[in-house]
Amino acid sequence: MSKRILSCMQPTNRLQLGNYLGALRNWVNLQDEAATECLYGVVDLHAITVPHDAQALRNATRETAAAYIAAGVDPKRSYIFAQSAVPAHSQLSWLFMTQTPMGWLNRMTQFKEKAGKNKEKASLGLYGYPVLMAADILVYKATHVPVGDDQKQHLELARDIAQSFNQKYCDGEEFFPLPDPVITGEATRVMSLRDGTQKMSKSAESDMTRINLTDDADVIANKFKKAKTDALPIPANDAEGAGRAEAMNLIGIYAALNDQSKEQVMNQFGGQQFSALKTALSNLAVAKLGPITARMNDLMSDPTEIDKILAAGAEKANALASPTLDDVMTRMGFWLR
Ligand code: TRP
Repeated sequence: MSKRILSCMQPTNRLQLGNYLGALRNWVNLQDEAATECLYGVVDLHAITVPHDAQALRNATRETAAAYIAAGVDPKRSYIFAQSAVPAHSQLSWLFMTQTPMGWLNRMTQFKEKAGKNKEKASLGLYGYPVLMAADILVYKATHVPVGDDQKQHLELARDIAQSFNQKYCDGEEFFPLPDPVITGEATRVMSLRDGTQKMSKSAESDMTRINLTDDADVIANKFKKAKTDALPIPANDAEGAGRAEAMNLIGIYAALNDQSKEQVMNQFGGQQFSALKTALSNLAVAKLGPITARMNDLMSDPTEIDKILAAGAEKANALASPTLDDVMTRMGFWLR
């Protein structure tokens, strides 16, 4: 059976190195697999589940699409689209909401984290977020979904929703395939440059914690220079690296950018001072990210091309999604037209 891959990112703030190494790079590689169709969405409807600014959202949607393209997602082979341009996502999401017990959503750990102490003020949309995500996936009958660790639970919910629909409305026939996770970025989990126990995040307060895809060479060099390390020399093996999250993070970033294993990097740099690794890392990051940044800036300087790509992607995505939605509605008892 052929594979259909669907993955998405939220258009929030700037994309950073973790998004590239942990996700985008894999999305690009997946395009080369045989008999595989790839759909990559910018989930702007998810972005409004927390307070947002309209103009910033418009820009961020374009910028996220630009990052996909600049990183190597090929709009000729993959569909790149904004979620809001494919109404079937929202429509299917409503249908699923009515079929999803609150108990399933109450288990979602990300809601608890994002809602924080003030649960009463969190929007209903933030609570229902995983149901919309299930609709994103199932509306295309996607078979494989590249996600980071933190989204595994949401993907399991999508599987539960699919299974329950298959049972209730399709006599157990596999109307929705149960989507499999493609866990990306486990080996390349990129952590904050200031705290090796925290994930590098586009929303962390200090910009010094992350390398943005839009950072120039000087900024990158400065961030690595100021990155937290410890007083010991660079570890030469895992044992020496034990309990040294910041040191291992820099080694991991170097390894990922240079397509090497951490062992190889530790063999090369072990015993030296961190300044040696930091300099090498800055040069490597600039060499690898520079062309991506340049292409992103290029695309953003005249958004007509991105807008065209998004329009073409949305047209194809709509063509795939509409029949599924119609089928679901018919099965649920609605009169269509
Ligand atoms: N929730 C995902 C994240 O924040 C983004 C997302 C939304 C997604 N819909 C999706 C990812 C569908 C994969 C498939 O990272």
